Amino acid sequence: MPAAALMRIMGRQRQGPWPGWLPVGGPAHHNAPMPSPNDASETTPLSAGVTGTAPGLTVVLGGTGGIGAALVEALSARGEQVLELGRRTVPRLDYAEESSVADAAQFLQQQLAQRGQTLTRLIVATGFLHGETASGQQAEPERSWKHLSADALSHSFQVNAIGPALVMRHFLPLLPRQGPCVAAFLSARVGSIGDNALGGWYAYRASKAALNQLVRTASIELARRNRQAVCMALHPGTVDTGLSQPFAKTGLQVRPPAEAAAELLAVLDGLTAADTGGFRDHRGQVVPW
Ligand SMILES: NC(=O)c1ccc[n+]([C@@H]2O[C@H](COP(=O)([O-])OP(=O)(O)OC[C@H]3O[C@@H](n4cnc5c(N)ncnc54)[C@H](OP(=O)(O)O)[C@@H]3O)[C@@H](O)[C@H]2O)c1
Repeated sequence: MPAAALMRIMGRQRQGPWPGWLPVGGPAHHNAPMPSPNDASETTPLSAGVTGTAPGLTVVLGGTGGIGAALVEALSARGEQVLELGRRTVPRLDYAEESSVADAAQFLQQQLAQRGQTLTRLIVATGFLHGETASGQQAEPERSWKHLSADALSHSFQVNAIGPALVMRHFLPLLPRQGPCVAAFLSARVGSIGDNALGGWYAYRASKAALNQLVRTASIELARRNRQAVCMALHPGTVDTGLSQPFAKTGLQVRPPAEAAAELLAVLDGLTAADTGGFRDHRGQVVPW
């Protein structure tokens, strides 16, 4: 291995809870500006499961993105065990390659078994709004149907809906069969059909709406495995990351990723099984589908 690559690995090696895990490279945008059963046990706050006697692990997919990295930082600062996975970690998780999703899940399963740990939180912080698509073309949010392109639509669905669906297939079975646990998928308010008053952003809106339906559907299947599990779509608010940076306008309230991460974790900590299958924002408010 070239010395420079080894230096990158060593530079990002997380000491402590996951000494065997070697993330590669640095965060992409880390510093970038930019219905239910109702018995009593199912209202246990999720944080109880995380801080209980069996140490729980949080896995952040897209942990090298702006919000994902802030979530990893915030959880680490709370002394919680956290594992970030993404396109530049080892193992790699890249939606362009389905086998990488399966391999990353298999790695996680082995690590959980070796450490006797429980996966109590799965946070999916991946997403795509603009930039280079898998075919090398540039995609921007569409202002009109005149700008619709099969390539941009395909890539948006790949990253915002199909990738998270593969995560559901390979990672949701790793959640415990009993006890509080949560799977949270970062969506976007613009994916709300009921809230769409402005139009535009066809590919992003439609792919996030697809994600929302996938989350709702998975929540029903997950509840059959574990009546205390929560599966949610979350809108993080407008956050200063690479994703939002080109669209930040004067007067638009853009919050630092650390603030968004703290708010999202507060929402996750307060969820109960009665909330599963829902779509909420960073303040915990229900977002219309
Ligand atoms: N920022 C906002 O204002 C805002 C508002 C509403 C909703 N959201 C949502 O919040 C989530 C996080 O957004 P963000 O602002 O943190 O964006 P970001 O900084 O651009 O991070 C996006 C993440 O997605 C990962 N990703 C992109 N393509 C991928 C692929 N093919 N396979 C696997 N991972 C891939 C990126 O990996 P790399 O690190 O390797 O590039 C990165 O970790 C997204 O779902 C976004 O839609 C954000």
